[in-house]
Parts: sequence; C-alpha cells; structure tokens
Amino acid sequence: MARILITSAIPYINGIKHLGNLIGSQLPADLYARYQRGRGNEVMFLCATDEHGTPAELAAAKAGKPVAEYCADMYAVQADIANRFGLSFDHFGRSSSEQNKVLTQHFAGKLDDAGLIREVSEKQVYSNTDGRFLPDRYIEGTCPNCGYERARGDQCENCTKQLDPTDLIEPRSAISGSTDLEVRETKHLYLRQSAMKDQLDAWIDSKADWPILTTSIAKKWLHDGDGLRDRGITRDLDWGVPVKKGDQDWPGMEGKVFYVWFDAPIEYIACAKEWADANGKTDADWERWWRTDKGADDVRYVQFMGKDNVPFHTLSFPATILGSGEPWKLVDHLKSFNYLNYDGGQFSTSQGRGVFMDQALELLPADYWRWWLLSHAPESSDSEFTWENFQQSVNKDLADVLGNFVSRITKFCRSKFTEAVPEGGSYGTREQALIEELTKRVRAYEGHMESMNVRKSAQELRAIWVAGNEYLQAAAPWSTFKEDPEQAAAQVRLGLNLIRLYAVLSAPFIPETSARMLSAMNTLDTSWPDDVAAALNALPAGHAFAVPDVLFAKITDEQREDWQTRFAGTRD
Ligand code: 2FM
Ligand code: ZN
Repeated sequence: MARILITSAIPYINGIKHLGNLIGSQLPADLYARYQRGRGNEVMFLCATDEHGTPAELAAAKAGKPVAEYCADMYAVQADIANRFGLSFDHFGRSSSEQNKVLTQHFAGKLDDAGLIREVSEKQVYSNTDGRFLPDRYIEGTCPNCGYERARGDQCENCTKQLDPTDLIEPRSAISGSTDLEVRETKHLYLRQSAMKDQLDAWIDSKADWPILTTSIAKKWLHDGDGLRDRGITRDLDWGVPVKKGDQDWPGMEGKVFYVWFDAPIEYIACAKEWADANGKTDADWERWWRTDKGADDVRYVQFMGKDNVPFHTLSFPATILGSGEPWKLVDHLKSFNYLNYDGGQFSTSQGRGVFMDQALELLPADYWRWWLLSHAPESSDSEFTWENFQQSVNKDLADVLGNFVSRITKFCRSKFTEAVPEGGSYGTREQALIEELTKRVRAYEGHMESMNVRKSAQELRAIWVAGNEYLQAAAPWSTFKEDPEQAAAQVRLGLNLIRLYAVLSAPFIPETSARMLSAMNTLDTSWPDDVAAALNALPAGHAFAVPDVLFAKITDEQREDWQTRFAGTRD
C-alpha cells in the first residue's frame, strides 16, 4: 500500500470561492485523493483557509467585525461549502492556528540560524489617519505616465506601467482616502533566497516528470532578469503570526508579523498537526507524513494549485524547507492549472463576476458541477465556462449516457424479472468482447488518473459509460427476452453488474451519485476492478436491488437562459 500526501492550495479567507478557484486546485486534488483511496492506498489530504494579510483585515473591516471573528465565521462558511461539494479533506485547517504560529516561528528561527535571514531597512508609506503602513497596492493616486487618477502604488491599471508608491501624484490611502501620508523608515526580515539559487535549480532539474507549465514558470523566475531575488518575509501589520525566532523575541521586530506568503505554505505542515490534535493522535502520527527521519521518506507528496501559485511552491516554500536544514518532506509532484474563464470574460472575486460555490449548489447538486469542471479542467490551456456547454455536457454525458443506462437496465429487470439479479444463461462472445474493451479502457483510465491527466481521465470514464450503452443497445435484452429469456437474463445480469462497476470507477468524479448507485445495487462492495471479468460477476444471481430515482435531471433551455441572465451581471 502506497502512502500519498496531497495538498490543495489553501483558499484566501475573504469571501466564497468561485468555480474557477475550485477547479484550479481543490477539486482536482479531491479527484486524486478519492482515486488513490479507491485503489486502497493510504491518503492524507489536507487543505485550510489562508487567513492572514491585508485583504483579510480589509474584508473584516468591511463586514464590521474584528478580524479574528470575521475569519472564524468565514472559515465555518468555507468548510460547510467544501463539505457540500464533496471535498474529502482529511483535515480542513486554518493558517491562523496556534500550530501554524509555532511552526512558522520555528522555521524563521532555523533560517536565521542558517544565516539565511538578513535585516533590511526600507522606506514605506505610513498613513497617519489609518494608523498603519500601507502596502503598495493600497495607495492610490494619479499615474505620472498616463494621468489615470486611480493608479495603484504598485502598478497603473490603465497603462500597465509598474510604479513605486512615491511615483504617484497626489497619493492617498485606498483604505480611508486620506492624503495624510508620510514616508517612514521601517526594518524588515528578508529571506536570502538568492543564496539558495543553485540548490533550487538542481532540485527542479531533478523533476523531469513535472508538467511543463510548472517547470517553465519556476525556471523563468530563477533565471529571468536578475534571477531569484531575496524576499521580504515580514510586514507592519497587526494581523498575522508575530515575528519571533522560535519562542524568543526578535529584537527590532516588535509589533510586526510574518508575510502571509511565508506562513501560508507552512500551514500545509501545521495542518497535519491540527489533524492529529483534533483526532487524539500523537506527533508521531502526523510526522510520519512530513518528516523524512520519521517515516515520510516513503510518502509521495503531490500539490495542486493554479499557475499563479507556482513560483511560491517551486521556489519560496522549498527555500524555507531546504534552508531550515531539517528533514521535512519536499513536494514530489506539482500539478498546476491554467485559468477557467467565465462566459466571454474572467471570473472575478473582486468584481463578483461568474458563479460562486454557494450559488452553484443552489442551482444543482455538486456532481453536476464536479463533472463539468473536471471534464473541462484548464490543463493545457485556459478553458471557458459557458452555459451552453454546461447544459450540453450534463444532458449528454450524465443524463443520456450514464443516467439513462442505469434507469433502463434496472427498470427492464424489474418489469421482466424481479428486483433481483436474474439467474440463468451465461456470458457469450458479445459479453467477452465488452469485457476486453472495458479491461483496456479501465487500464487506460488508471494510467491517466495516476498521471493526473484530469481531462483524459474524464474522457476515458465517459467512454467506459458509452461502451455499456452500446452493449445494451446491441444486445437488446428486450428483444432477446422474447426468444431466449435465459440469454436475456445473462445480459441483464451483466448490465446490473456494470452499474456497480461504474459506481466504483466514477466515485472520484461524482461521489454522491456513485453512492446512490451503490445503494440502489444494495452493495457495500467498492473493490477496484483489477479484474474486470470478476468485477462483472460481483453481484450474484438472486442479489436484490432497487430501481433508483432519476440520477440526473436534464437542464432545460428555459433554465439555461434564466441562469445565463441571472449570472450575467455581478454578485453584490
Ligand atoms: O492563491 C491563493 O488562493 C492563496 N491563498 C494560495 C496559498 S497556497 C499556500 F501557499 F498556502
Ligand atoms: Zn498609467
């Protein structure tokens, strides 16, 4: 039995995620976790909310809540939606946990011991009215290049020129609008990533099987321009992990916190400790996933994320881990995704454009969305959600192919035999041919799932459903029954066994429906079809079942048009 550690990029706490976020990391990670569990492997699947940083502070202020309370509330909301989408995390943690605080401070201490931290004195804009330093993008003013009045301190959105806050004409705080700003001197800690450039370069070179999307982004950051730059890992904020060196104070760093991108990936590790603490386990129980000196050397660690997260996971986080000099597990495979666009534009959290996870579930059950999103995952390029495509895919793949198969065979059996697997006859050449085809396809499906080719896996699964439909169409037990009821019995027996087989194979994609199929087939047998022929004899003659309710309702044109209009604007 293999041991597989899986993490999905941890979503920001501020707000409910849209479907583009979901398919960029959590959903494909869930697909892989469910598949690996289905194969009998030991899986630890971790995710959490990413709670620190200025956006969380501002969202809390907007909601009129203290930031800790806002985060606790939003955590509960996100955990509930994740659960309703069938995301099967072994633990859904929080980057604001005590465990992450301790571990983040621990890593900073180790990096400092290794001489990889330096102090830098910088000039930063301070807002007297807001009583805080302002991150560059929270300073607005007129662009010196094009005159656009709402340019941000890091970049002008109008002419795209990269800016320094001090370049802006008439700068003001984007938080309060105040112009009572001054430049103050402040000290920060920098992680000397540049000192680890060669080590990181060699490590990435050793990952020959990583997707091009992943390695090309990493290499670009390593070699473009002045190469891997040292990175500020502290901020002048109230909300975050206080800067300490292990459990010791860090002179000169009082009142500062670690940068959110420093503590967020450390939460992947801390989350495992949260899992252990929440479930009455010991440190050894979580360390066997994360410490190579404590059993994690035989763990395969896979990360899932959107392409914008790749630099942090291929360079910054590995720099933290390698730099600590301690035997923590490094990622073995990193699966990254392009973007999903929405109906001719982009999904946007800030503008509320697109379909958000809570809204999606108000329209249809999770499996409809899971199937569409996974079978259209933005792997080799960006992909696009359109309502037409969604309707077509649900109606054809789910309702016509899979749903119809299940309904036809179970209803036919009930009407001509009973609600039990019929006895008599035996599998002949047509059945052998199907078994051969399915064997090939199931092996191909396994191959795509192992290598995390999400779209190809979906295509193969669909082909497996189609094969069953074609068999049924050709065997036509409703005709056979008239001349040769014994043969019809064997055909129906095969069809009913196919339902169980489909439930097992489809569970990673559509877990709720799979569970309904298994329950209709009245079986707890979820064993993987290593031997397809044997799997098609798993439900013996006489085994009782029940005709399930319709598995998938078709999306009507009226519904499609209604939803299209409803989601054309922005969410308020
Ligand atoms: O892009 C995002 O949603 C970030 N919150 C991902 C963080 S992943 C990790 F580093 F923790
Ligand atoms: Zn400009």
